[in-house]
Amino acid sequence: MRSDLLKLCLFSALCLSLAATAGSAKKRRAWITVGDAAFQKVQTVAPDAVSIGSRQVRAAGLSEKVHAVVLDESRLLAVTGAIHQQMGQCGGFMYHGSEAEARAALEARRVALRTPAYTIDQREVVVPMLSSMQEQHIASTILSLSGFTNRYYASQSGVDAANWLLATWRELAAGRGDISVALVTHKAYPQPSVSLTIAGTDLADEKVVVGAHLDSILSFRMSDTARAPGADDDASGVASMTEALRALIASGYRPRRTLQVFAYAAEEVGLRGSQEITRQFKQAGQKVAGVLQLDMTNYKGAANDIYLITDYTSSAQNTFVAELAAAYLPELTVGNDRCGYGCSDHASWDAQGYPVSMPFESSMARDNPAIHTSRDTYENSGSQAAHALKFARLAAAFMVELSGG
Ligand code: BES
Ligand code: ZN
Repeated sequence: MRSDLLKLCLFSALCLSLAATAGSAKKRRAWITVGDAAFQKVQTVAPDAVSIGSRQVRAAGLSEKVHAVVLDESRLLAVTGAIHQQMGQCGGFMYHGSEAEARAALEARRVALRTPAYTIDQREVVVPMLSSMQEQHIASTILSLSGFTNRYYASQSGVDAANWLLATWRELAAGRGDISVALVTHKAYPQPSVSLTIAGTDLADEKVVVGAHLDSILSFRMSDTARAPGADDDASGVASMTEALRALIASGYRPRRTLQVFAYAAEEVGLRGSQEITRQFKQAGQKVAGVLQLDMTNYKGAANDIYLITDYTSSAQNTFVAELAAAYLPELTVGNDRCGYGCSDHASWDAQGYPVSMPFESSMARDNPAIHTSRDTYENSGSQAAHALKFARLAAAFMVELSGG
């Protein structure tokens, strides 16, 4: 069970959607996708809420009906309050800016790509790469990112953090014509996502993707100038990913499949950055061999080193990730756990039918109590980055083994 603060996640995320659109006098409609049980609660406080479509969704052996729902935006607060009061936990939701988006979210057509071979045969590349990776680099990135006042999706410092990361990744890519670094702008809010792409040599139309979220938030009293360091959630994931990238580029490795990494905007307000990106992938018919999501990598809350999240992820790819850990990080222990809802950007990829995994820092029962508060600092993760280094190494092995063969 998650902490009380986190139980308010749905509430705060939808508050933010409201804040973003405040000032418009016109009545606006909002769309959400929500599970059947939560939808029953929605109807008690928003009689105008209508299911415009539904689909049976299977995740981790469980099956639940999910509805696309349209309602008056002014009812969102009452709706989220009711879900929290009556369900006692996050119902799991996605906010959508239009009916078309909500309907598309219900569909889960698989993008045609044969299941990758999931072989582990790049040891001569991976082993030296992993030993070149350093805790200190990760610590430095976490400190830089958590040094911004906040990385809120609607604030100037959220934009500044994106520009800082853009410049940092550009430095990593300097002198390499096959690497491009770019901002991915989002129409509805100021914070862009950041992306780095290494062109594949001979399977360039297939991608391997690694992501983490750039934004941060406070559960209560969020504002443009509030302090939301987000050191663990999720500067740690961005920092792990950046160190994997640094080592990979420094080694001179050239992937056969195209490698792309994303620092997503606006995760904390309904997975909005990753939703936009994954929808564009699907619309473009982009083939993806596999996706890895790193959200919270530096707080060791439980006995195992790594917990693979089993819901809204690919079980075949999760098996491969566990095999990568056994092959390259045999000193680590790996367990399984589930979020119970689409708790991070992996759910956006899963919703579009792409195979995704999320290795997590702790069990859910012992998750970091400081996230979404001003206490989510490097110090509160023990002033170390040794835990995040494990995830950086796993990500580097994933990138090479999936893009190389
Ligand atoms: N990193 C968290 C998700 C998380 C927190 C996973 C604790 C496991 C343990 C993520 O940034 C987040 O806060 N997600 C939201 C949901 C999202 C749909 C707005 C949440 O969990 O409240
Ligand atoms: Zn969060």
